[in-house]
Amino acid sequence: MKFTPEDTQTLEDILTWRRDTRHFRTDPIPPETFEMLQDAFERAPSVGNARPWRVLRIQSPERRAAIREEFLRCNSEAADSYDPATRVEYLKLKLAGLDNAPEQLAVFTAVDPEAGRRLGRRTMPETLQQSTAMAIFAMWLTARSLNLGVGMLSILDPDRVTKIVDAPENWVFTAYLCIGYPEFEDDTPLLHRKGWQENTRREWDFR
Ligand SMILES: Cc1cc2nc3c(=O)[nH]c(=O)nc-3n(C[C@H](O)[C@H](O)[C@H](O)COP(=O)(O)O)c2cc1C
Repeated sequence: MKFTPEDTQTLEDILTWRRDTRHFRTDPIPPETFEMLQDAFERAPSVGNARPWRVLRIQSPERRAAIREEFLRCNSEAADSYDPATRVEYLKLKLAGLDNAPEQLAVFTAVDPEAGRRLGRRTMPETLQQSTAMAIFAMWLTARSLNLGVGMLSILDPDRVTKIVDAPENWVFTAYLCIGYPEFEDDTPLLHRKGWQENTRREWDFR
């Protein structure tokens, strides 16, 4: 397969307009579109081809409400960790799209998966979590190419999330994902738009 300059431009556009989405429309994702997101996970690279990601599709209203409560608790603790002026700024940020996102995934990483027979991870066990993060990103770009948005949520206590969604003990929590059609599109991160941080480019050093 040879790609054209137009393909390269399309990928650049997808990267530019990817964004972390926190404002969702409630309309559902068609099943065949959702299946393409599942396929994207399977195409991701992983250490020793272990494919350690374990995904739970959270649909129960009780579990969704419990995750929301957990986010509110952790978010309030995070706010209290700042000085009073920064706390006010922090509380103005929207840091989750849990209210409207039609699809919600709890993504875990298997701690010692059989697949791949431990190849490549002896000195760096964290490569399992890195592999799951890559699969999430593959899915994220695919979602964007389908005009969907993804929001990644880490302001949660991993042990509590594991209990809420009843995940096995030998899975570690990696991220909670909200997925749906975005209320609006943007080429600039929300944290830059809201003035939480500067939009600076990180330069590389030479050695
Ligand atoms: C590992 C990880 C965890 C994140 N956790 C959160 C989160 O808890 N809440 C949130 O609003 N955004 C979260 N984000 C999104 C980042 O804030 C976002 O990627 C960053 O501000 C850059 O914006 P962009 O994704 O729109 O480019 C997370 C992103 C990553 C990669």
